[in-house]
Amino acid sequence: MNPSHSTIRWTDSMSIGIPDVDEEHRRFISRVNELDAAIAARKDRREIERLIQDIIHEARSHFDDEERLLAERGYPDARLHSAQHARLNSLLWDVLRMSYAAESGDDWAKKGLLIKQMLLDHFQLDDNSYRHFLRQPPAMVAR
Ligand SMILES: [Fe+2]
Ligand SMILES: [Fe+2]
Repeated sequence: MNPSHSTIRWTDSMSIGIPDVDEEHRRFISRVNELDAAIAARKDRREIERLIQDIIHEARSHFDDEERLLAERGYPDARLHSAQHARLNSLLWDVLRMSYAAESGDDWAKKGLLIKQMLLDHFQLDDNSYRHFLRQPPAMVAR
């Protein structure tokens, strides 16, 4: 049994309150679940690499959208948040690079768990820190 395989379910507590951001976060969760299931089913490594690549591409576009939004709304910690995205992006690439080495199924399980944990931590900790700021009406923020 793969220790990392547990489906993540979207809950309202994960909501940032911005529909586009929530939609992208929901999509991430389903991508991560897909990766997790593929690893648990011991799918072909090329299939798993493709899923990791998809997560990386989606992450980049989501991070760009989020950074644009935070800049537009004048979020004071926008630069810190961009740095957190850059770090996460490089960790995701590290996982993909590591995946090119021949390894056992247990190593895949660890990588899947790592990706899942990194993304969840970011949504629940880092993204949550801009949540209250963005929930204020734009007029209050602009002044
Ligand atoms: Fe996010
Ligand atoms: Fe973020």
